[in-house]
Amino acid sequence: MNVRKLGLLGFLALSGIFSNGFAQKDTDKRVEELLAKMTLEEKIGQMNQVSFFAVDDKAIAQYSDDDMDTFLVRMGIAGGQDQKKPSEMTRDEKTALIKKAAAQILDNNITQPVRDGKIGSLLNIVDPGMINKLQKAALEESRLGIPMIIGRDVIHGFKTIFPIPLGQAASFNPQLVEDGARIAAVEARSVGINWTFAPMLDISRDARWGRIAESLGEDPYLGGQLGAAMVRGFQGNGNLSDPDAIAACVKHFIGYGAAEGGRDYNTTNIPLHLMWNVYLPPFYNSVKAGAATLMTSFNDNDGIPASANDYLLKDVLRGKWKFDGFVVSDWASMTEMLAHGYAKDGKQVAELSANAGVDMEMVSGTYLKYLPELIREGKVSMETVDNAVRNILRVKIRMGLFENPYVDTKKASILYTAAHLNAARRAAVESAILLKNDNNTLPLSESKKIAVIGPMADAPHDQMGTWVFDGDKNHTITPIGALKADYKHINYVYEPALGYSRDKNTSNFEKARQAAANADVAVVFLGEESILSGEAHSLSNINLIGVQSELLKAVKSAGKPVILVIMAGRPLTIERDLPYADAVLYNFHPGTMGGPAIFDLLFGKANPSGKLPVTFVREVGQIPMYYNHNNTGRPFVGNEVMLNDIPLEAGQTSLGNTSFYLDSGKDPLFPFGYGLSYSKFEYSNLDLSSASIPVNGVLTVKATLKNVSNVEGTEVVQLYIQDKVGSIVRPVKELKGFQRVSLKGGETKVVEFKLSADELAFYGRDLVKKVEVGDFNIWVGGDSNASLKGSFSVTE
Ligand code: NOJ
Repeated sequence: MNVRKLGLLGFLALSGIFSNGFAQKDTDKRVEELLAKMTLEEKIGQMNQVSFFAVDDKAIAQYSDDDMDTFLVRMGIAGGQDQKKPSEMTRDEKTALIKKAAAQILDNNITQPVRDGKIGSLLNIVDPGMINKLQKAALEESRLGIPMIIGRDVIHGFKTIFPIPLGQAASFNPQLVEDGARIAAVEARSVGINWTFAPMLDISRDARWGRIAESLGEDPYLGGQLGAAMVRGFQGNGNLSDPDAIAACVKHFIGYGAAEGGRDYNTTNIPLHLMWNVYLPPFYNSVKAGAATLMTSFNDNDGIPASANDYLLKDVLRGKWKFDGFVVSDWASMTEMLAHGYAKDGKQVAELSANAGVDMEMVSGTYLKYLPELIREGKVSMETVDNAVRNILRVKIRMGLFENPYVDTKKASILYTAAHLNAARRAAVESAILLKNDNNTLPLSESKKIAVIGPMADAPHDQMGTWVFDGDKNHTITPIGALKADYKHINYVYEPALGYSRDKNTSNFEKARQAAANADVAVVFLGEESILSGEAHSLSNINLIGVQSELLKAVKSAGKPVILVIMAGRPLTIERDLPYADAVLYNFHPGTMGGPAIFDLLFGKANPSGKLPVTFVREVGQIPMYYNHNNTGRPFVGNEVMLNDIPLEAGQTSLGNTSFYLDSGKDPLFPFGYGLSYSKFEYSNLDLSSASIPVNGVLTVKATLKNVSNVEGTEVVQLYIQDKVGSIVRPVKELKGFQRVSLKGGETKVVEFKLSADELAFYGRDLVKKVEVGDFNIWVGGDSNASLKGSFSVTE
């Protein structure tokens, strides 16, 4: 080999191309070597995931006396013949007995099966000592020494809790989202967790659905960008074997967010074009960003439960996208096919899911029980099992679990560091959306006397939001906490008026009104407790819950300016509340550092820059309403006759009528992408590099953004397009780019986007992704009603 060739090889190796190739070959070789040594039972063991919630002092402290008694009696530990009755025992005695029983269950049901090679993954164990002990059983006490992958729902932070994903999406800031996921990974890995079930990429167009909180909103482009950023953050930017990386799991594949009526777990009916153009793209992006694993969803789409959908799991995910990580079911989503009426028994469940391409079963155990029999009967092939195991081992090897399986318990875990808390504060700042600010009520002067009112002003648990298993409310800084810590000089009185969001006791309303009357301004903290959104927490009425709207009215009647600060898990229907607030700052549950972040914004230490990742409807009956809808044949024109203008005994007519509601019109309360700032931005000079581009071309789009105020601020500049005529009907608008642009007062900047053919392409009539020639509209602006408009065409 000559020197020049050697030089080239060296360059290739340095640039990673070659080394990746080697690494891949090496991984494949190791997978095959291991597989060759495995018995069928050991293979199936890898496909089995088991959950165990530690029964420690902290968990037991939360049990009621009744819970404890039931446990003791059911376990045959108390209340039987010759046994003490629970009523004769102290709580300490009961605690000791429960802990002893739990340790025995752990030994029999987890540790021994791990030694026997029957468990490939555990979820919900977070104690480093226990994780190490079990990992040791896998590595040193089992025949083949295959490590387990340890999962946990680390959704928006592990201990340091960031805003809920819907809030993070409002930042329109991929770097911020990536940094948040990185911190979550560092914290989780420091106690031994190496796999998270996030990001959730379900497109959600229905605020009744509780899990909208966990979503990245309604838009496939935004969700795609931010989901990939989260994957990079969790997985250490591509190096899964980093000692502080954790494997990501994109979920729920697929359609779960389109549950009928927003009722969790419900049927979805997503036709193929919609599937390909809206629901699949965020998953594709994250798979391309290297997501190591993927989770199926609970719903059936068009009659086929996701954990048995071979078209999506095999043809799409493996065939077209070349995904080489592993697929896990959702929690018992496989056995739920019995209730769906899709499988007649557990054996058929295992057959359907294995053959559809679900590699690992979460908690429901049918693989362990029935796969040996199914293989003997030829209903599932050995190759299917081998491929599933290959997928799982490949990820474990890539994660470096064989080399680096244990947590170093001598090193302190890395939790709640100052850097993490600062990042969470910044994330909460960028996630807040200013919806209203009449007469520049905000920012507040620090010399004003403030009446702080409302149940969310000091709700350390609820402020963290849904899907928090590990965050400790004692670390949360609420708005009241922030006033005590960071804003000690502020003159304020605090009158919660309600104990929690659902509290209906109005007896303190007068006190709240008085407090407002005696102050210069009232800041009213309303919203939702964290348990009112999230999994299995759908609502049919999404007004401010309980009597909170009445509280707001009572405070307003004091005649002082009112600032409404909302902390919620979903976009609530707040139209009826707007007249009673001079300014509204909306926070999707903002996490550990929400309090300081909110006061930073209220006092103008920070300038709001969040934009809505979902449409805010006026009435729940408008749902689903989303900006990127198709046009009807009778689009709204603006001079429609509304409900109150219809003459009495009007004759039947549909002529001249369009698609809208007689009572609430066609518009939402706030459109997608909307959000105010203390600065004022103006857009001008839309400039396209060409009036037409070829199908493989790139259009350069420029627009001038001016900060016409004297306040420094950040604007999320958004670019939308419309493909005017397509082989299938195209949405009226689609987000295709966004940038956060910071400008000093009076400053101007030309913002530039490169719009490539790929962004204009879609899955048309023939379900092939391509750009169709024709005319396009284009808009640049600060929300989805952007008015700076141009047009261009795409030619052959
Ligand atoms: C059920 C949820 O749907 C899923 O998102 C979660 O990751 C699993 N439970 C594990 O807790």
